[in-house]
Amino acid sequence: ACAGFASSPGALAQSRNAPNASAAPIVIKFSHVVAPDTPKGRAAERFKALAEQMSNGQVKVEVYPNSQLYRDREELEALQLGAVQMLAPSLAKFSPLGVKEFEAFDLPYIFPSKQALYAVTEGRIGRSLLRKLESKGITGLAYWDNGFKIMSANKPLLAPADFRGLRMRIQSSRVLDEQMRALGAQPLALAFSETAPALRNGVVQGTENTPSNMYTQRMHETQKHLTVSNHGYLGYAVIVNKKFWDGLPAGTRRILARAMAEATAYEKTIAQRTNDEALEAIRRAGTTTIHTLSPQQQAEWRKAMAPVYARMEERIGKDVVQAIRREAS
Ligand code: LMR
Repeated sequence: ACAGFASSPGALAQSRNAPNASAAPIVIKFSHVVAPDTPKGRAAERFKALAEQMSNGQVKVEVYPNSQLYRDREELEALQLGAVQMLAPSLAKFSPLGVKEFEAFDLPYIFPSKQALYAVTEGRIGRSLLRKLESKGITGLAYWDNGFKIMSANKPLLAPADFRGLRMRIQSSRVLDEQMRALGAQPLALAFSETAPALRNGVVQGTENTPSNMYTQRMHETQKHLTVSNHGYLGYAVIVNKKFWDGLPAGTRRILARAMAEATAYEKTIAQRTNDEALEAIRRAGTTTIHTLSPQQQAEWRKAMAPVYARMEERIGKDVVQAIRREAS
């Protein structure tokens, strides 16, 4: 609008630097690995909108989706170093921090329903697990939901024997490693960003994930079969760098906590729907045959994966596993 002013870069730079420091917005870099059009991606955008609006622009949230800044393991390091302030890694990915308890969420069939899951995440156990992050320089703010996982491959996966010899991509969780071994498959832990390429070039022949993750990464285009097995859960902890969080003015922290609570409530309302729509979109794409399991087949899957509990109990902590099972039953 004011050509004279704009054509003078020196003046512009000066005017930008001029306001006193307290007027400069607090910037939160929120890095994540999935597409914007997923439960996590949508909730991150909702948090941004709420935080910026509720703080009257005092806080600016920059959301970086699709591993644009960092891949799985790097993003945790970046958070601890303060290169980014906020993440929402899957609960399967916390063991590099030395917090293995979250892997309980990966145990096959541990949550019979979403209600059972919420009883854990919104209760005492959920809170106590988040507190374990404090000593790692991380503050846990919330649990975000994705959904129950499906299995995919280039052949129908109906009985445990169908997994024999298949190389299956997993998230880097020992529990998921054991789960695939219990089925007779060979697990391979890969970063999320490497998964769709690995399926395309045959490094792995199959994988497990939620429909929304599979669809938005176009995994269905290279997977001819998928089974709606709902054999395990995928969800997130929203975390911040503790030093950053503790260093915020108390009023700002309160506003952000409120924005997070609202974004979390929103996330809960869209997670299931987003996954249902993604499964429907895969069906419509016509690339992939979608299988469901009969009650008898389901029982066989459960039986094949049951030994994972005994093998992993010590790693995760027997008390945690038992407490979750109690709460979730
Ligand atoms: C995966 O690696 O498959 C998931 O954890 C990705 C995600 O963040 O949902």
